[in-house]
Amino acid sequence: MNRELLGRIQSRSANLAVIGLGYVGLPVAALFARAGFDVVGIDVVEKKISKINSGISPIEGQEPGLADLLKQVVSSGKFRATKDYTACQNADCVFIAVETPVDEVTKKPDYVALRGALASLGQNLKRGALVIVESTIAPRTMQDVVLPTIESTSGLKANADFFLVHCPERLTPGKLILNIETMARVVGGMTRDAAEIAATLYRYVVKGELDLTDCLTAELVKTTENAYRDVQIAFANEVALVCEAVGGNVWQVRELVNKSPGRHMLLPGAGVGGHCIPKDPWLLIANAEGVDAPLIRAARRVNDSMPLHIADLVVNALREAGKEIRGARIAVLGYAYLENSDDTRNSPSAALIARLNELGAEVRVHDPYVSEYSGDLMETLRGMDCAVLMVAHDEYRQLDFGAMKKRMRASVIVDGRNEFDAAKMHSMGFVFLQIGQAE
Ligand SMILES: NC(=O)c1ccc[n+]([C@@H]2O[C@H](COP(=O)([O-])OP(=O)(O)OC[C@H]3O[C@@H](n4cnc5c(N)ncnc54)[C@H](O)[C@@H]3O)[C@@H](O)[C@H]2O)c1
Repeated sequence: MNRELLGRIQSRSANLAVIGLGYVGLPVAALFARAGFDVVGIDVVEKKISKINSGISPIEGQEPGLADLLKQVVSSGKFRATKDYTACQNADCVFIAVETPVDEVTKKPDYVALRGALASLGQNLKRGALVIVESTIAPRTMQDVVLPTIESTSGLKANADFFLVHCPERLTPGKLILNIETMARVVGGMTRDAAEIAATLYRYVVKGELDLTDCLTAELVKTTENAYRDVQIAFANEVALVCEAVGGNVWQVRELVNKSPGRHMLLPGAGVGGHCIPKDPWLLIANAEGVDAPLIRAARRVNDSMPLHIADLVVNALREAGKEIRGARIAVLGYAYLENSDDTRNSPSAALIARLNELGAEVRVHDPYVSEYSGDLMETLRGMDCAVLMVAHDEYRQLDFGAMKKRMRASVIVDGRNEFDAAKMHSMGFVFLQIGQAE
């Protein structure tokens, strides 16, 4: 047991560093600063660093508690951000929370950010430090990438001169603070000591259960829980397509299915986006040589096809209104991947827009949380032939359909999120199609 490090954590005199100040790293840094630790955050994006250092959160969506917390810990001097990795020379514990995407074509892990962060850290690592990887990584990455990269760049020996833990995050944008504070966490140590020391540190912030295990298990748990979700969503999406084809209503079917014991059918929808669910299934299978994983691959295919299905619904709805897709004007409502969030990574709307453009439509996009598209909603709808709901942002839940109808050139709505009431839409004279529901 590294008693010196443990003692510093217990007395809150340990210096912390957080590498990567995004959706994960920023709230993690701010919460440990509030718990009384001196925290330095490191990122490569200058604009983000200066925004954070002036106490302003770079995250634009609804994020309860984050803006106030950040202001508080920056003005108290407990948290500052920098580009300079030499700040790590003084850090007893280092969290790594950089992005870990997969290559668009090969679907293999793209660890450019991770390797860069590890190498820069290795050159500045304090002897005896604890390094905690919070980023989601493919099974075996701690052993095959993290350990050798830090060893070779630092000249230090793992499990003797520095210690390794993988503690994957479970948060969702919109609930960053709440999730970190309340969710159970898997703390995978390369040694039992490392896991125990990390758990002592996490206890200052995390009220949820801390499950101590090894690195490989932690890698497998995180990627499995998101692959599981992807497969479950794909199932719901497939049933939605079946319901449309046979004249059923998936929303009613789902509600009744879930009355059967042990059934927890998820919600179908217009697509799966974000930084996590679309790539974590690929991370899970990345190093599983000889395993084809047809179920996981099929789930990815189904979920990726949903925005294209929405495009088909747009074509059908327009046709019903006597219009062709070529030359039609379509308003896409929502560009983030999640309601009330500004996160546009792997946006299903991007796939829909590309398809609609291919079909010769003229597309206008609105999203209150994405600065590029955050114009006036009613102005966006003016002169449009069809509005497609892709994201259930609050602003769209309160839509004034009367005002909308007056501004549009044709009265056509496609609902990709089951937010609008079909009977009401029809009674107001809209041609209305909803995912998972036959007309
Ligand atoms: N966003 C989520 O909901 C979520 C949830 C759970 C887990 N995760 C995982 O956490 C990790 C981070 O995700 P995120 O959403 O916070 O990503 P993000 O893109 O919001 O943040 C990553 C940050 O790391 C910075 N960065 C990149 N390379 C760097 C380097 N070499 N040195 C310093 N900073 C660097 C980027 O500039 C960026 O600010 C990923 O592995 C993701 O899978 C994300």
